[in-house]
Amino acid sequence: MASEIIAIASDHAGFELKETLKADLEALGFSVLDLGADGLDSVDYPDFANALSAAMREGKAGRGVLVCGTGIGISIAANRHRNIRAALCHDSVSARLARQHNDANVLALGARLIGTEVAKDCLKVFLETPFDGGRHLRRVEKLA
Ligand code: RB5
Repeated sequence: MASEIIAIASDHAGFELKETLKADLEALGFSVLDLGADGLDSVDYPDFANALSAAMREGKAGRGVLVCGTGIGISIAANRHRNIRAALCHDSVSARLARQHNDANVLALGARLIGTEVAKDCLKVFLETPFDGGRHLRRVEKLA
């Protein structure tokens, strides 16, 4: 059976954490669609949020991970796309609730604000936690 595809993208500030999380995803058995950035040269985070959102809209990946310095810019950019519910998370509690209550399909992280181990924990919890549905479904539907 083909493994699930997770899209991942960052700007220069998130590049190193993106590389770490990409290796984690592969170790967990996911296929990774890496949409850049490709290094530490300065780039613009909306370009990468837009690329990831387009890839998900086109069905190339079911879920995504975005990283910039704070996670703020790249999550704002992603949430301008109708198909995206990006959640900026700083710990495993926010990652869990983003899945349970918001059915978030993109995890956004701030590489300059959280440590590597916290980011890895957020990713693991985000991937493992199902949507609770119920009263939360009505609310999520209203987002659309
Ligand atoms: C880049 O310097 C930085 O502004 C960006 O990574 C991000 O933090 C924006 O929200």
